[in-house]
Amino acid sequence: MVAATLVALGAAALTPQMLSDNHAMLRVSVDGRYLLLPVQEKEEIAHLRVVVDNNLVQTLNVRLAVDKVDYFVPLDLKRYGSDKALVDITFHGDRRTTGAVKDFACWREMKVSDTFDTTNRERFRPAYHHTPEYGWMNDPNGMFYKDGVWHLYYQLNPYGSMWENMTWGHSTSRDLIHWQAEPIAIEPDAIGTIFSGSCVTRGDDVVAFYTTAGQNQTQSMAISRDGGMTFDKYDNNPVITANIPDFRDPKVFWNADINRWNLILAAGQEMHIYSSADLTDWRFESAFGKEYGNHGGVWECPDLMKIDGKWVLLCNINPGGPFGGSATQYFVGNFDGHKFTCESMPKVTKWMDYGKDHYATVSFYNAPAGRHVVLAWMSNWQYANQVPTKQFRSANSLPRDLGLFTHGEETYLSVKPSPEVDAIRGAKVKKPTEACEIVVDIKSAMELTLANAAGEKVILSYDPQAQTLSLDRTRSGQTAFSEAFPCVTVAPTHGSLKQLRVFIDRCSIEVFDAAGHVAMTNLVFPTAPYDNLSVKGGKATIYQLSI
Ligand code: FRU
Repeated sequence: MVAATLVALGAAALTPQMLSDNHAMLRVSVDGRYLLLPVQEKEEIAHLRVVVDNNLVQTLNVRLAVDKVDYFVPLDLKRYGSDKALVDITFHGDRRTTGAVKDFACWREMKVSDTFDTTNRERFRPAYHHTPEYGWMNDPNGMFYKDGVWHLYYQLNPYGSMWENMTWGHSTSRDLIHWQAEPIAIEPDAIGTIFSGSCVTRGDDVVAFYTTAGQNQTQSMAISRDGGMTFDKYDNNPVITANIPDFRDPKVFWNADINRWNLILAAGQEMHIYSSADLTDWRFESAFGKEYGNHGGVWECPDLMKIDGKWVLLCNINPGGPFGGSATQYFVGNFDGHKFTCESMPKVTKWMDYGKDHYATVSFYNAPAGRHVVLAWMSNWQYANQVPTKQFRSANSLPRDLGLFTHGEETYLSVKPSPEVDAIRGAKVKKPTEACEIVVDIKSAMELTLANAAGEKVILSYDPQAQTLSLDRTRSGQTAFSEAFPCVTVAPTHGSLKQLRVFIDRCSIEVFDAAGHVAMTNLVFPTAPYDNLSVKGGKATIYQLSI
């Protein structure tokens, strides 16, 4: 009875006032925490302005449903301390003229509820990789380790599973594998939405640096006094500005060599380096990148770290990756706190991972035992918005520990799954499953095929003569959502391979040379799990992985 009354009241209270062919106002005065907004992904964005007591408290962009609902997203009404809100909605696109806005499905489907169901509905949601509970995710942000806890923030759209409304989502873990979803950490403000950045710890404080993306991109900071759960934005944001259109993704670290903080950020197709004594007053030191490495796209999400006495500059680039779209290149050299000097010839390009779905790689600040632990976003801007999931989009890669190795005249990054990954190795099994690790002892030339009964397959081949490892996903399952998806990725092996570790997790295949000389990360969307394995030129052992 009570429930029925509430539903009736809710329906009455959610009747919009139509003000023109693209403008409506909705007064929400129903009891309940969330306004559940119905989304239809192929529709144009509607711009929502949330007004409480005549004041604008939030703006967001949502693809409100026109004729059918793909899923709902929750607008938290209670956090403004009032149970009444006015939502002012402007529609864009053609549908408002071909079909009257008043008849859009969103009005019938919108509801107020005390709960929002995040139970997984997705077949392709990875079992042992980090994913957002719902909504869109891109780059890992602000990662740091403190008091036994790994903190991972990430680029999140809380109002849809496509890129929009950039916000820092937050998850924590004690072992880099089991992730706990935490409340949203940093939300858009009057300066702009919250793009990628980093965190450092200073005493008990956690200090976040991020790009505020408004009319221009500027760098801002926020301080957390509760270990990274909530942040107060600094009063004098932004702290770094420039007249450069692509100017973003600050990565900050303490440089013990000069007893100062350094900050590196992406500026067009270069990296800019700054220093500071107090984290607020930043001095421009130098630029790196002109004529070095790959310049097929914009440079993004840098990192700079000292590994075994050398300095490594990570440079994510999009497009321009070896197989199209996004990828992570890096430079090895020296850094004196002011200027990075690359030790290779300018034309030398080094890639950290030779798959197609490895981007925005950055490291955790303050990882224990001097480790360099990184995560990458497991997707590619060519099709990230189209991959066949709805409740959420994108996962992060397995955590990886970086080191160095030399081959010929050059020093390269070695990439290995972090030791924490070994802890989820379970029993040996006869057939591959949708969450398993395959260890392959290589004899000579090797070809490994993963297949399912639908005839979908992935082929991993090692050619010792050519010194290449390749993965063919052209017939891997669902590939038609983007022309750029079917492909063969090929890696140089820099010497001969003895053992491979292949990690399958529902929609991803990460291949590592056990010695760390090759990493290859690719998405796959088989209509049924690959349960058939055949190997020529090697011996495979399959382990169930479970968390
Ligand atoms: C990289 C990137 C960053 C930017 C963020 C926005 O994937 O384009 O440069 O800060 O995504 O979401």
